[in-house]
Amino acid sequence: MNILVLNASPKGKNSTTVHTALYLQALHPEHTFTVLPVGQRIKSYEKDFAPLRHELEKADLLLFSYPVYTFIAPYQLHRLIELIKADGVDLSGKFASQITTSKHFYDVTAHRYVEENCCDLGMKVVRGLSADMDDLLTEQGQREARNFFDQLMFSCDHGLFVTPPAKAPQREKTIYQPVLPKTAKTKDKDVVIVTNYAPEDENLQNMIGDFRAALPFESRVVNLRQFPFAGGCLGCFGCAITGKCVYKDRFDEFLRTTIQSADAFVYAFTISDHYTHSSFKCYDDRQFCNGHRTVTHGTPIAYPSAVTISTRVTCG
Ligand SMILES: Cc1cc2nc3c(=O)[nH]c(=O)nc-3n(C[C@H](O)[C@H](O)[C@H](O)COP(=O)(O)O)c2cc1C
Repeated sequence: MNILVLNASPKGKNSTTVHTALYLQALHPEHTFTVLPVGQRIKSYEKDFAPLRHELEKADLLLFSYPVYTFIAPYQLHRLIELIKADGVDLSGKFASQITTSKHFYDVTAHRYVEENCCDLGMKVVRGLSADMDDLLTEQGQREARNFFDQLMFSCDHGLFVTPPAKAPQREKTIYQPVLPKTAKTKDKDVVIVTNYAPEDENLQNMIGDFRAALPFESRVVNLRQFPFAGGCLGCFGCAITGKCVYKDRFDEFLRTTIQSADAFVYAFTISDHYTHSSFKCYDDRQFCNGHRTVTHGTPIAYPSAVTISTRVTCG
């Protein structure tokens, strides 16, 4: 079987997770494993997807290998899924599974996210392995990895896979039209609306417009797509002591002076690919530079997505 390991960890060959895939590769010379450091190559695939398309087309089984980052998959994997969908490469009928390492904090959410996206692509999804960071160093962890692989091969041989979720019924797209008049604002509070709307996302822009009109305070809109991120979090822990990120794109300064300085945060985004656009994931992961410090403790936060804003405004 041609197994393509999509190593979405930003650490490439130093990834903890990919070592489980390498362990399985060593045990199974009867299969052809190709291991690609897609997490590290994401910028090059943005420029030219052809080399990855070629590998994807050759594979019988895609094995996503990645760490859980900030409650779900790392930015690099979110971006990869966007690129795969945008390219339109036909993956239907291929098998897909996944290996993660984490501290099991929202690993279930990450697995569901990958499963649902693979189902969107018409793939046959086999449940993955969620290992702890150091499981591969233990006898039991190694046994679990071997059992996972045996079951995976059995599932591929016998055509056993997850039942894809029912498709949502097609609905006509309606664009929310702003209805609220502008009112006078007080400067008592500074509210920042953090969004990632695309220029063509009129729906979300109009909803934000009405939200701001209803708000008694002055508000600012920060669109994450406009921030020149040098890349996703590298998981290097360089920030752990100093709170300074190794990237030179000044995101940590932007976070502290433009966002964390506000009296309240509102996140406004449109759901896509079972999350929202990857720009938001980049923002979320890069907040690791807070170094697990409770920097915004007590600040009110709201996160109405496009659907909720629309419901609230219609009902209100
Ligand atoms: C930015 C960042 C965010 C993380 N978020 C989570 C998380 O939400 N849940 C969790 O269980 N572990 C989390 N972890 C721990 C990683 O999942 C864990 O260290 C993983 O084994 C790293 O795998 P890798 O070496 O293959 O990249 C996070 C680590 C980093 C660096």
